[in-house]
Amino acid sequence: MTDPEKTATLSYDGKSFDLPVYSPTAGPDVIDIRKLYADAGVFTYDPGFTSTASCDSTITYIDGGAGVLLHRGYPIDQLASKSHYLEVCYLLLYGELPTAAQLEDFETRVTRHTMIHEQMHNFFRGFRRDAHPMATMVGVVGAMSAFYHDSTDINDPWQREVASIRLIAKMPTIAAMAYKYSIGQPFNYPRNDLDYAANFLHMCFAVPAEKYEVNPILSRAMDRIFILHADHEQNASTSTVRLASSSGANPFACIAAGIACLWGPAHGGANQACLEMLKEIGSVDRIPEFIARAKDKDDPFRLMGFGHRVYKNFDPRAKVMKQSADEVLDLLGIEDNPLLQVAKELERIALQDEYFADKKLFPNVDFYSGIILEAMGFPTSMFTPIFALSRTVGWISQWKEMIGDPQMKIGRPRQLYLGETQRDYIDVENR
Ligand code: SDX
Repeated sequence: MTDPEKTATLSYDGKSFDLPVYSPTAGPDVIDIRKLYADAGVFTYDPGFTSTASCDSTITYIDGGAGVLLHRGYPIDQLASKSHYLEVCYLLLYGELPTAAQLEDFETRVTRHTMIHEQMHNFFRGFRRDAHPMATMVGVVGAMSAFYHDSTDINDPWQREVASIRLIAKMPTIAAMAYKYSIGQPFNYPRNDLDYAANFLHMCFAVPAEKYEVNPILSRAMDRIFILHADHEQNASTSTVRLASSSGANPFACIAAGIACLWGPAHGGANQACLEMLKEIGSVDRIPEFIARAKDKDDPFRLMGFGHRVYKNFDPRAKVMKQSADEVLDLLGIEDNPLLQVAKELERIALQDEYFADKKLFPNVDFYSGIILEAMGFPTSMFTPIFALSRTVGWISQWKEMIGDPQMKIGRPRQLYLGETQRDYIDVENR
């Protein structure tokens, strides 16, 4: 990190404290408070981390006001239209777009790691068939540390590299197996003759009884969904992975922690919740009822797929996703999809409503993705596993960046304590 160019002065309790200020290549300056407690005896207070930079990073930049999302400097709309997921994985992991030779080598390494240890198949049979696939993924990914000991030493750069490739390669296989298990169909082994997205669709939808041909348009849409979910700065699940990794835990355990965090409906679980909300609304004429509920402070209902902690004008990923939804539904001949009609009318009405304008609420990445995934044949329970599959490269890239930093320290926030001050034990007969 560069030397501080500016200083902020904090006046507190009759004293002044000079705090170094670092300037980014893009985005706001940061005030370095690392010595504040030692120098001034105070903590800063920021539950939810709305004004806190937890790290420095060179991977992804978001400008929430301008609706900008850059991966290693490249805009998300350009990557979504010109690149493909494994090339974006290379970019996120190594910092530059690969040459043709580098890309071929990377794709070969990922392709040759897509199978999981045969004995891991038994883990799936320990779950109920109706277990949510996210529960299965948390369990199976965490269990990878029991099978891939030769890539758990985080201090060995080579083992970090192998763990990265293994996780990116095996996540689609695990997600597809979780899906197959939940519908009582046999697992499909990965195929090396298919690209990443086509292989995932094949593992999910092929059945022994007939030949399954991957539709190239659906495969392209799948790959684009993977790209749009690949990384997103220090979101809740990425921060979970970073915090878990700061203790030195193995990469498989840390990614399992990220999957668990992503599952929440305020985060990656929103795509499933959004489609279920659109189904509950059911028709355009019921939209006002749900808009009113979303605005009612006494009603916990929120418009799923709307709002974002960082984007305050629009989510650039939602724009691309909306275009993809139109393309996929046209291809599938799903004219006038009622859910898409409800989604578009809900977006139109909400964006005209001053409540949503005042609170800067608009569709996020999860609003349209579910419509595409359902049209492709996935049940809503598979939406978040697909998000987790896509985000694995982001979690891994941020993990590698942090673990590779010799200054890394274990994450250990403090608190504003509002509990009882010290008091003496009271024997039960005196209570
Ligand atoms: C993702 O961080 C990331 O980058 C995440 C993500 C990624 O790629 O990793 O982008 C993926 O998680 C996208 C977000 C998916 N979640 C949802 O769609 C769930 C619905 N959205 C909300 O729960 C909410 O908007 C959040 C969680 C996304 C953001 O919450 P914030 O920033 O903490 O904002 P907030 O909850 O404080 O809300 C601000 C105000 C509140 O009203 P007041 O208390 O100020 O009166 O806006 C209201 C909220 O009640 N509000 C909503 C709303 N979202 C916020 N009201 C109705 N519907 C909504 N969706």
